[in-house]
Amino acid sequence: MTEPVIFFCLFKLHNSVFLALTFLKPKEYLAGMHFKRRTHTCGDLRESNIGQSVILNGWVDTRRDLGGLIFIELRDRYGITQVVFEPGFNEEAHNTGKHLRSEFVISVEGIVRKRPDGTENALIATGTVDVMVNKLSILNEAKTPPFQIKEDTDAGEDLRLKYRYLDLRRSSMQKNLMLRHQMYQITRKYFDEQKFIEIETPVLMKSTPEGARDFLVPSRLHKGKFYALPQSPQTYKQILMVSGFDRYFQVVKCFRDEDLRADRQPEFTQIDVEMSFVDQEDIFEVVEGLMKRFFKEAWNKELALPLPRLSFDEAMERYGSDKPDLRFELEMKTLNHVFENTTFKVFQDQIQNKGEITGLVAPGCGDYTRNQLDMLTDFIKKLGAGGLIWIRVKEEGLESPTMKFFTDEEQANLTTFLGAKPGDLILILTGKKYKTLSLMGMLRLEMARRLNLINENLEPKLLWVIDFPLFEWDEDTQRYYAMHHLFTSPNIDDIPFMESDPGKVKARAYDLVLNGSEVAGGSIRIHSAELQAKMFKSLGITEEEAEHKFGFLMNAFKYGAPPHGGIAFGFDRLAMIFAGEHSIREVIAFPKTASGVSLMDEAPSTVDEHQLKELHIRIRN
Ligand code: AMO
Repeated sequence: MTEPVIFFCLFKLHNSVFLALTFLKPKEYLAGMHFKRRTHTCGDLRESNIGQSVILNGWVDTRRDLGGLIFIELRDRYGITQVVFEPGFNEEAHNTGKHLRSEFVISVEGIVRKRPDGTENALIATGTVDVMVNKLSILNEAKTPPFQIKEDTDAGEDLRLKYRYLDLRRSSMQKNLMLRHQMYQITRKYFDEQKFIEIETPVLMKSTPEGARDFLVPSRLHKGKFYALPQSPQTYKQILMVSGFDRYFQVVKCFRDEDLRADRQPEFTQIDVEMSFVDQEDIFEVVEGLMKRFFKEAWNKELALPLPRLSFDEAMERYGSDKPDLRFELEMKTLNHVFENTTFKVFQDQIQNKGEITGLVAPGCGDYTRNQLDMLTDFIKKLGAGGLIWIRVKEEGLESPTMKFFTDEEQANLTTFLGAKPGDLILILTGKKYKTLSLMGMLRLEMARRLNLINENLEPKLLWVIDFPLFEWDEDTQRYYAMHHLFTSPNIDDIPFMESDPGKVKARAYDLVLNGSEVAGGSIRIHSAELQAKMFKSLGITEEEAEHKFGFLMNAFKYGAPPHGGIAFGFDRLAMIFAGEHSIREVIAFPKTASGVSLMDEAPSTVDEHQLKELHIRIRN
């Protein structure tokens, strides 16, 4: 009996508070409701508008009160226009103008005039005119923002992310999101012209791990069962090929629960592409065409085609990375042959065990002090190297504590082979092949940073990396993994080695690399159920496991799967590079922090006990 009474009282109380507010502050409630629609945006007005009566709506960007005169820079996403409150022009508007503060939302009505000589602002497009205000409506007030809304904010990233709605008002963020928008349009137009069709695939799917950890969604209706959020629509797009949609694309969100970095988010966007009856060359042609458009229309740069190609092995040997940054040289060289007959035990061991000795010349670094060299050694040791051999190149010869282990001939061959000159520094690493090459690749990037070889004015370098190994050996688990993914076709000629010598098998896989960033990756797929089964077997996946995880795909392949292949672009990474940013968070409206948190809405968050109960979930402490 008591419950309805309490509810009724609460209802009455709530209602009367509402009514009281309405009566007490009618103006504030109604002010924002009635306003005249803008005639122009804040980026529109020019000298040709002088004398016109206009209405502008926007946010107060900056405010200068010079006693008699108040100048407001009014902002919207199109630009900034100066509006002027002058008591002699309109006293009422001027009086209201005194109350304006940063980020108030206002509507002004006024007359466009030419700015007095000497007061023009060449930095903004509307800078030769301003608007003399004769009517001001305050549409909404604003609390003092926690940081100033300006291009180069000194606010820390956490604060910017917490108040993302304010951060997104900054012109650089607006530009970035508009660039993204432009990129969506270029993408859709291009693929449509090329007769691709856009098909949406499910966001709730079966968990079919692709390399990263899945995000799981518990099912309410099916106790103990889970959906997974797609790491990519890989299996769906392959099934669409079986269905005959021979040219598919989708701009699609993907979800991966992996360690985050500047170029990785737990949810990110791909341009996902799949084609039937094609080989690698067909895919390259389509991709290169899109990249040319992007370069031209989103970056205002010309792209020469066809793109250069580098094999995985060459990329690793010369640049220590499968996503080499070719904007600067600093090439690494394999030195095994120089030390073929060495008596230096460390090198001897590596040569016998098919390990790697790799060298790099840092030009002009021959005067590095012991302290600087120790710092370099620490840098590379922290990344996992056993040590670093450094050699100063002098007019009189090589100088290094390691020199006592090298013969004169080896020293001469080393210098000649590396093309080192007096004043240079030679750096050498040795150990297991790919690990050592990768470490030297990181040292290469570090030296490029120290030598200031990387800057935004360099010619962009876009290339294909091809001929990837099909499998990758993992030391920790002592087993092979698919380097690209499970559905990637081996090179036809290498199929016989899939079981006998998996390390030797190359894949029909390719990556697109822009300025040292992997911006797309794909492959020609396996389209036969038998070869797919062989692939699973090579990876130690049992028949039952394969059936449980991928049975649906294998079944589909039994009903006439065409040869097919595809690729997916990292949309955020491309946008980041085109925008000249260094983190994909700068081109995503609402990104997560490096620890996967959304500071604005505080996701992930706890949920009500009853929600958990419905999902059959109990949290263990
Ligand atoms: P892959 O896993 O290589 O391939 O992904 C394709 C591209 O997506 C981008 N990318 C990411 N961007 C931001 N945050 C992340 N966490 C992230 N992970 C990947 C990269 C990468 O090149 N299904 C296959 C494609 C195919 O074979 O067709 C796939 O997803 O730029």
